[in-house]
Amino acid sequence: MQFKDSTALITGASEGIGRATALRLSAMGCHVIAAARSVPRLESLREEIAAGGNGSCEILPLDLMRPADALRILEELCQRTAVDVGIVNAGMGQYGPFAASPWEDVEPLLRLNIDGALLTVRALLPGMRKRRRGSIVMISSTLGKRAVPYNAAYCASKYALHGFSDALRLELRPENIHVGVVCPARTDTAFFNRMTYSVPQGESRRVPTSSPDRVADAVIRCIRRRRREVVVSPEGALFAFVGSHFPRLTDILLYHSVPRPTEE
Ligand SMILES: NC(=O)c1ccc[n+]([C@@H]2O[C@H](COP(=O)([O-])OP(=O)(O)OC[C@H]3O[C@@H](n4cnc5c(N)ncnc54)[C@H](OP(=O)(O)O)[C@@H]3O)[C@@H](O)[C@H]2O)c1
Repeated sequence: MQFKDSTALITGASEGIGRATALRLSAMGCHVIAAARSVPRLESLREEIAAGGNGSCEILPLDLMRPADALRILEELCQRTAVDVGIVNAGMGQYGPFAASPWEDVEPLLRLNIDGALLTVRALLPGMRKRRRGSIVMISSTLGKRAVPYNAAYCASKYALHGFSDALRLELRPENIHVGVVCPARTDTAFFNRMTYSVPQGESRRVPTSSPDRVADAVIRCIRRRRREVVVSPEGALFAFVGSHFPRLTDILLYHSVPRPTEE
């Protein structure tokens, strides 16, 4: 995949990992279509890309929690523009024991992280299939490789992306469309300020943290090498490896090391 003169749609491009990926791709001469809700933040990304002088940026305001409107906006975009790369990134978190998490906290997460991802791909597919070309990258998490307590709905939403991607990869192989998943571990973004806390979180542990730029590099690598999966950091890869090869040991370690929140 040559990024120069290609077009990439990125959801959740106004901040964090999506923004960093938009800047990386535009620096390589890509035309970026940046989707999110916040128009001022999207405008500021567009200005930064214009000042960089390489790629270009078009903004696409949408709310993926309003599926009918979002699907219409994305389908219209994909009818008028040949999108080569789709980065399915918009997502949110939710913390708390599942039993103590009100459905009003869980449901928006499922709508954004699962429905929002699937409807984005749905809009991308007709054009990519017609041109027999394209790359779709989902931003999952190491928690989509091995779940941890008090993040059950979030983990479920990220596991869903892996199942979706595995099925889609095989469905789209005859049409030469790449489907990959990138799994960041903890990344230094506003994600943790924006997530829903259904119960107060106790003292959080210090865990290794990646920069959004590092995740953006992993996304580029995933597309270039048509990788099925990229786990961003060595710590994340170790966690995923131990979790899948030694599940009982991982259960014991997580049970004893993750602090139990007080349910109020
Ligand atoms: N940060 C981490 O530690 C970490 C670790 C592993 C995986 N991830 C995953 O990485 C992805 C990006 O996370 P991040 O850390 O960059 O988070 P972030 O800084 O909170 O960015 C989230 C992005 O999603 C957009 N968004 C939120 N709700 C939306 C909606 N209803 N419709 C459209 N866009 C919406 C936000 O823009 P607007 O508010 O403007 O809409 C923002 O651009 C997520 O899928 C997350 O699960 C993050």
